[in-house]
Amino acid sequence: MPETTIQKGQEIELTIDSLAYGGRGVAKVDGYVIFVKNSIPGQKVNALIYRKKKGYAEARPLEVLEESPHIVSAPCEHFAYCGGCTFQQLDYAEQVNQKKQQVEALFRRQAGISDFTIDEVIPADQQFHYRNKMEFSFSNRRWTLPDEGDDTERSFALGLHIPRRYDKILDINNCHIQPEFGNEILNAVKTKARELKLKPYDVKTHNGFLRHLVMRFGHNTGDIMVNLVTSYENPELIQPLADHIHETFPQVTSVINNINTRKADIAFGEFETLLHGSPTITEKMGKLTFEISANSFFQTNSIQAEKLYQTVLVGVEITGEEIVFDLYCGTGSISLFLAQNAKEVHGFELITSAVEDATRNAMTNIITNVRFHKANLDFFFKKEKTHKDLPVPDVIVIDPPRAGIHKDMLKALPEFGAERLVYVSCNPTTQSRDVALLMENGYGLKKLTMVDMFPHTPHIETVGILEKN
Ligand SMILES: C[S@@+](CC[C@H](N)C(=O)[O-])C[C@H]1O[C@@H](n2cnc3c(N)ncnc32)[C@H](O)[C@@H]1O
Repeated sequence: MPETTIQKGQEIELTIDSLAYGGRGVAKVDGYVIFVKNSIPGQKVNALIYRKKKGYAEARPLEVLEESPHIVSAPCEHFAYCGGCTFQQLDYAEQVNQKKQQVEALFRRQAGISDFTIDEVIPADQQFHYRNKMEFSFSNRRWTLPDEGDDTERSFALGLHIPRRYDKILDINNCHIQPEFGNEILNAVKTKARELKLKPYDVKTHNGFLRHLVMRFGHNTGDIMVNLVTSYENPELIQPLADHIHETFPQVTSVINNINTRKADIAFGEFETLLHGSPTITEKMGKLTFEISANSFFQTNSIQAEKLYQTVLVGVEITGEEIVFDLYCGTGSISLFLAQNAKEVHGFELITSAVEDATRNAMTNIITNVRFHKANLDFFFKKEKTHKDLPVPDVIVIDPPRAGIHKDMLKALPEFGAERLVYVSCNPTTQSRDVALLMENGYGLKKLTMVDMFPHTPHIETVGILEKN
């Protein structure tokens, strides 16, 4: 580890070389790493060291001495405070370049994996208004901006979390990554909820009614779902708000009320009621049609998801004779995409509504060689009797949540003896950790491909192709 004389409280001139995973600038002084907040590659800054740790220090810029050739002006009025799209000031080509470097560094340096190829990132054609799902939070603890006076009303906000503050919500008027129409709904719901005097939920005292506004958009169908998440069921309180949405926006095809009585701050109810329209929305991808419930997972960028699934299809290298397992299958989109080229596909998923959606989606698309299984993959394959009737897979696709594959599932994976594993992930940190373990147990990483599903944010989707040694 390089020695350094750098001290906390020191002012220092730094050149930002790259972005670390998560979005902070990285500068080096004689090999010693300094993470610099709110900076982008190519900038020369005068910075203040505010924390010094054993192997690195943290700094914040005091002044930009030389501007980066990659800087662009951020279009979003909330950019300075919202933690969402932290890459907005970086031109898009450089965003993609930085994401590739980050993934490569995680695999090569952090996980110690060397012998694999890495493709250029598949970029996004549409860089704004791309999300087909947005989740906003109601709060009685509004984050006040420095230029807002003492008379600002703080007891109502509808927006997004301030970074690292679970209790504070930044009021949002215009989010540039959701469809424009989503902003109209967002502002109308905010105004009407206040007019109706509906109480926002307090995450500290657990009082209040309105918790989240979740919107889903069928990018290729025009369907729109508005899901109002509340802390208890009260039709008299919620129906006037639902009626207002229905009357103001006839384009909205579903209005749903999810009821989450638990303390956990999640936009996911123990049960739901239908207030207007259909209980699901429909989305189309390629030749396939998907019906999606409020609580089922679906990729949040429909245009890029098609490219992702195409990448998976190339990666599985199937001829029509293979048995494929699709682990963590959500509403079954990968399973259905692959079923057209496989002998048989088995999808496994925890959430009941997603398994039901997946099964219905197979029927709607008249695909008969898929089976969906409700399974908690943290222990499903540990219990012999739950899976003794399943066939042996030739290829396994794995697309776990951000935390990665559970250790017992990871242990069970090589025991299937599949020739290929295709590991899809939205978190290269956990993915590289899991891949390193699979490599100790009979697999080799051949290739990494990345699809940018999340422009302007630090996130990237990665597809790893592993083959049995
Ligand atoms: C990243 S999504 C992948 C969905 C799907 N492959 C797609 O492209 O739409 C991860 C999925 O894993 C499911 N999941 C999370 N934990 C699980 C577990 N322990 N067992 C089974 N499924 C789980 C989630 O509900 C979610 O649908």
